[in-house]
Amino acid sequence: MTKLWGGRFGEEPAPEALAFTRSLSFDRRLYREDCAVLTAHAHALARADLLEEDEARRVAIVLSRLVEDVEAGRLDLGGDEEDVHSAVERVLLERLPDVAPKVRAGLSRNDRVSAALRLWLRSAGHGVVEALADLIDALRARAEEHTDVVMPGYTHLQRAQPVRLAHHLLAHCFALERDARRLLDALARADASPLGSGALAGSTLGLDAAGVAAELGFPTVLANSIDAVAARDFVAEFLAAAAILGVHCSRLGEEIVLWTSAEFGYAELSDAFATGSSLMPHKKNPDAAELARAKAGRLIGDAAGFLAVLKGLPLAYNRDLQEDKEPLFDAVDTLRSMLPALAGAVRTIRFDVDAMERAAEDGMVLATDLAEYLVGKGMPFRDAHEAVGRVVARALSQEKSLPDLSTQELSDLAGVTAEEVHEVLSAQASLDRRAAPGPSSASVKEQLETIARSIDDLRAAQR
Ligand code: ARG
Repeated sequence: MTKLWGGRFGEEPAPEALAFTRSLSFDRRLYREDCAVLTAHAHALARADLLEEDEARRVAIVLSRLVEDVEAGRLDLGGDEEDVHSAVERVLLERLPDVAPKVRAGLSRNDRVSAALRLWLRSAGHGVVEALADLIDALRARAEEHTDVVMPGYTHLQRAQPVRLAHHLLAHCFALERDARRLLDALARADASPLGSGALAGSTLGLDAAGVAAELGFPTVLANSIDAVAARDFVAEFLAAAAILGVHCSRLGEEIVLWTSAEFGYAELSDAFATGSSLMPHKKNPDAAELARAKAGRLIGDAAGFLAVLKGLPLAYNRDLQEDKEPLFDAVDTLRSMLPALAGAVRTIRFDVDAMERAAEDGMVLATDLAEYLVGKGMPFRDAHEAVGRVVARALSQEKSLPDLSTQELSDLAGVTAEEVHEVLSAQASLDRRAAPGPSSASVKEQLETIARSIDDLRAAQR
């Protein structure tokens, strides 16, 4: 077993201690990034005349072969080493025994692991944003298809006021769009180099931290070496943004579950995104939407669990920080499998627009329009609310809807003529009276344009 330490120890680590503390099983996925960090470090050693140019070149070649070999399945990093850094050291020692012992000067696993994780998050995080942009685009496209479909909007899950299906779908788009921005903000702050910090206090070797950062594409170097090795807010921030995104996906998932129930009957999932029952032959279950609803719990757990690890840790590096990787990998893996499944479900779901329009014909959802009409005629809102409340009570007592009351009743209870009422009490007319940010057709058109621009922007941010 190759270790990165040992001189002062008289005994090998106990198997149970090693089994408990080792991270190779999960941190081996950082091998590419770890090799990139080590390569940039070798170049810095050469610039400081601590390694020959040719030695640094050979280190770079061996490490890039290592990456190719692991990718091609020719090399297995899963030995009995403590972690990925030790496993990389083993291969480097085997393949370059004359140079390998010089390469770690001035580099600690403390700055190395943070740099590798930041590099990993840079690319994995952008992959999440890309998948999220696809989900937003799927919702946008369905909204664009359904700008004329009227449905009841809900508060308290009770029919409230008419909206357009597009307006409702766009509401999900805007929430998810903010999530994408939050993730990108977190990624931008994570993009800073901790290298040059060593274990916690830098090194005496005159290594060029700015050059190392530039080689790895980090726009800045963290200014304080203690902070650089202790900081994991870049992980916490990404996890927090991922948890909020998970919550938004769960709300979308829940609506798919509701809308595809017979009770709502607003939508039917395509067969490809639904699941059958092992016992009941007729069932078509929304399992993917349910799991999207459930995964929020997991993503919140990743964020909350890691914050609990971080809380109260003294500066600088502590082994506790090794617990950053599993929640981060888990959150990224969860999102990368969930977002495409949700996008596919959204792309292929069939909306029952007739059922939505029938529900929107419930004249009660126009009660607010009637009250606002009375306000337009000069009645104080408090009185208008009361008057329309009386109209509603009368209609309910007769098992009728608002537009079905007699001219006499409408004029007695609210002082309006039947013609006026007919003009006010139409869902289609009601929609266009409610301008941006409401559901008017001009507003929806504007929202569609805003979201389309933002999706382009998010996708451009990946390049
Ligand atoms: N596996 C460790 C981690 O993920 C690497 C750093 C260990 N550093 C140390 N001084 N023991 O944090």
